[in-house]
Amino acid sequence: MSKRQNNDWWHRAVAYQIYPRSFFDSNGDGIGDINGITMKLDYIQQLGVDMIWLSPIYDSPNYDNGYDIRDYLKIMPEFGTMEDFDLMLKEMKRRQLKLVLDLAVNHTSDEHPWFIESKKSKDNPYRNFYHWAPGKDGKSPNKWGACFGGPAWTYDIITGEYYLHTFTPKQPDLNWENPNVRKEIYRIMRWWLNKGIDGLRLNVVNFLSKTPGYPEGKPRAEGQYTDGSPYFKNGPRIHDYLEEMHEKVFQHYQIIIVGECPGTHLKDAELFSSPKRKQLSMICTFEHMDLDGGKWTPKLLDLRCLKFHFTSWQKGLYGKGWNSLYWNNHDQPRIVSRWGNDTTPYRDLSAKMFATCLHFLCGTPYIYQGEEIGMTNVRFTSLADYRDIETTNFHSEASQSGLTLEQIMAAIYAKSRDNARTPMQWSAQLPHAGFTNGVENVTPWISINPNYTDINVEQALHDRQSIFYYYKKLIELRRTIPLIIDGKYEILHEENTHIFMYKRYNDNGQEIIVACNFSQQPIVIDDQKLNEHIAKRRRILISNYEEHLKSDWLDFRPYEAWAVEVEI
Ligand code: GLC
Ligand code: CA
Repeated sequence: MSKRQNNDWWHRAVAYQIYPRSFFDSNGDGIGDINGITMKLDYIQQLGVDMIWLSPIYDSPNYDNGYDIRDYLKIMPEFGTMEDFDLMLKEMKRRQLKLVLDLAVNHTSDEHPWFIESKKSKDNPYRNFYHWAPGKDGKSPNKWGACFGGPAWTYDIITGEYYLHTFTPKQPDLNWENPNVRKEIYRIMRWWLNKGIDGLRLNVVNFLSKTPGYPEGKPRAEGQYTDGSPYFKNGPRIHDYLEEMHEKVFQHYQIIIVGECPGTHLKDAELFSSPKRKQLSMICTFEHMDLDGGKWTPKLLDLRCLKFHFTSWQKGLYGKGWNSLYWNNHDQPRIVSRWGNDTTPYRDLSAKMFATCLHFLCGTPYIYQGEEIGMTNVRFTSLADYRDIETTNFHSEASQSGLTLEQIMAAIYAKSRDNARTPMQWSAQLPHAGFTNGVENVTPWISINPNYTDINVEQALHDRQSIFYYYKKLIELRRTIPLIIDGKYEILHEENTHIFMYKRYNDNGQEIIVACNFSQQPIVIDDQKLNEHIAKRRRILISNYEEHLKSDWLDFRPYEAWAVEVEI
């Protein structure tokens, strides 16, 4: 791909994701808020990112923390007001930070006025805004399971029919077949875009189209439900809807559209993100997050699978589409605990190693709040400390199915989304890590990770060797070296089970070699030719050990990572 093809600002951008509830609480009620974000914009600017992805801020009853929207055009009162939002946007623009809002349009809250109307009668004008179906033999229309446990259909007594919810019963799925639904959603999108935001992240956007008739799925490996995903992920009309959305909305603005597309593989990734097809600017996929077992049945990562994943995507999408690059977000446990090592001294090394591995790839890197200071998973002793609906649903289903509390907690410690949702650790200040401006008797909506006394922003900013400054440097490198954006990719020593090594190169003799030891062991790769090639390097771009004193570059220390520019 020539440089010109990757010429949009977002091809060169690095994004920072804010989960507002856990970012910074400006008014001391224990809940992060919009003014809290505005107050911390200098910090984000200091990191050097270009854009902010902001998780939902709309009015919501918060069964799924804002991903269940009750009013698309109102700010959640706990987060502030529309004036606060406008001020935040203004302050972002002043700092040249772009804003991408997160919009969930596959479903609304069951408290949205459309659904309240829809429930009332079969001939209500809003009835067809949602998926309603009569039962079969006194049971639900099919046995699809919902994404966070339980059935995907809920019976409603008023009209004696079932409604579809691919997530919780509090999140009924909108019926995109209905042109009025599409019209309403486009109106909402335009309303926000007219405010001057820079784009949208469309939540589970590949779920919009459902196969008519809701065919029965195959039985899931466990439990009583079937897998309906072949009939609601990447369904028959998904590309028609996105094309229409582009035509009616996106093309009229200078914006970026990120589509969250779980269960999407390479072939479909191109269909969604090819610039020729005018649908999404980039997608966000999950294949690499699914390599360490099922949601609640974690197993060890086989590095070769991860390498295989990145290699096929880097090559397969090159010049054809665009992907997001991420290890963390509000739905994933913290990478440093998940596949790295969060104990001293390895936390620092492994956090930097993951950053190195990701930030030299082709795509748009996303940093999730706290990742830049190496925040870790949390281990609450009491289940009552967990807030996430997926986690609490898992607990009740797993205990009914006979798992012991110990087994359940082990799965939660490894995979719960709350691992990523504990409040941002701003300082060592007791008792709430500087997360809330409130007095001592405030209780944050979710407890702070007790390791904040060691891991916090204040400490990171004081230490020039910190993870924070390492990220800052990676962001600068991406900005100054076009090869990171446009270069071709090739894997090196593909079969090695501990080292992930690849190069980015172009036809003008430029090359970057990136090497990461994913293990705690020293590892040696025997390749004299490559070693000599690297020794002729022009410069070391970055390295997570202070000095690279050894003559043998392929003699790796625990979690060692480096990137070098080589002249060929
Ligand atoms: C997306 C969001 C997640 C949410 C789900 C259902 O995957 O990222 O947080 O729970 O959609 O709305
Ligand atoms: Ca607050």
